[in-house]
Amino acid sequence: MARPLDDFPRTTLAHLPTPLEPLPRLSAALGGNEIWVKRDDCTGLATGGNKARKLEFLLGAALEDGVDTVITIGGVQSNHARQTAAAAARLGLRCQLVLPRVVPRSGPTYENSGNVLLDRLLGAELHVVENEAEVAECLRKLLAEAEAEGRRAVVHPPGGSTEIGALGYVNAALELGEQIQGGAPAFERCYVAVGTSGTLAGLAVGAPLASWSVELVGVCVAGDETKHRADTDALLPPLRALLDQAHESSEIRYEGGFLGEGYGVPAESTLEAVRLCATTEGLLLDPVYTGKAMAALIHDVRTGRAGDGPVLFWHTGGSQGLYAYREELEEAMDL
Ligand SMILES: Cc1ncc(COP(=O)(O)O)c(C=O)c1O
Repeated sequence: MARPLDDFPRTTLAHLPTPLEPLPRLSAALGGNEIWVKRDDCTGLATGGNKARKLEFLLGAALEDGVDTVITIGGVQSNHARQTAAAAARLGLRCQLVLPRVVPRSGPTYENSGNVLLDRLLGAELHVVENEAEVAECLRKLLAEAEAEGRRAVVHPPGGSTEIGALGYVNAALELGEQIQGGAPAFERCYVAVGTSGTLAGLAVGAPLASWSVELVGVCVAGDETKHRADTDALLPPLRALLDQAHESSEIRYEGGFLGEGYGVPAESTLEAVRLCATTEGLLLDPVYTGKAMAALIHDVRTGRAGDGPVLFWHTGGSQGLYAYREELEEAMDL
């Protein structure tokens, strides 16, 4: 890497390094590969999740620019929104969240508990809108208000997935490289949920820098393989340019078979994965992202597609979203 990560503005938000742990009871239950988990659900910012890593770089840059207001966008139960709200509180910034109803779920539990409850508790202003067109309109209004009031606002896209945000996952790959050097298995395959692609792109650029030779299995949770490939392909060149990075990115396989009916709608395999991890390992996944990524891993271990060696599940957080699905989970899982 011609340009080291230390070169970029950064503010400390996450508890790092996150633990890397074996999952012996899950591995035994599936009877195949040794399965390990990278615990980015434990990054510690309003309980944790992958956005803490991205926000360290995004808000580091924002603070350097003299920003006093951070605005971002996400679905109603966005984990990114919750972690942005927490980071803003910690840094003394005003936080405005624009939350389009992109998931076919409604009702008091979905709209008031889980991440939404935490967003409010963390002091963010919530602007729930109906669709993408209303997002643009709401952003225009918030930016005009900020200007009129003499505030300096920054808008972060959904998931914080700019090349600056993705630096958080370049750093994460380097962190895993150190854990491998310290004796952990050199995982040949790693499963990770893909929403807005910043996590995947960061890992894909960071892994070769860490001399970690891996196939990244990007499990699609927000659309089909074509959409996620296009999003990632759009992020990789600016991210590599930012780092003056000449190495090839890691190999990526996009796995589109575990999306179910769409973003935010758990499939049967999602619920099986959530329950299996909870009951074998006391490990909480979520019904939107990690449940789907783990469903893909489970399928691949059962069918032999995961190969022979140890496989890594990159836990990106999100279990706060479980509460928003209370009735659905109770009914589907007979809880
Ligand atoms: C829990 C969780 N996992 C995975 C992701 C996907 O990360 P990315 O948007 O960087 O692809 C997100 C956010 O979008 C998330 O909240």
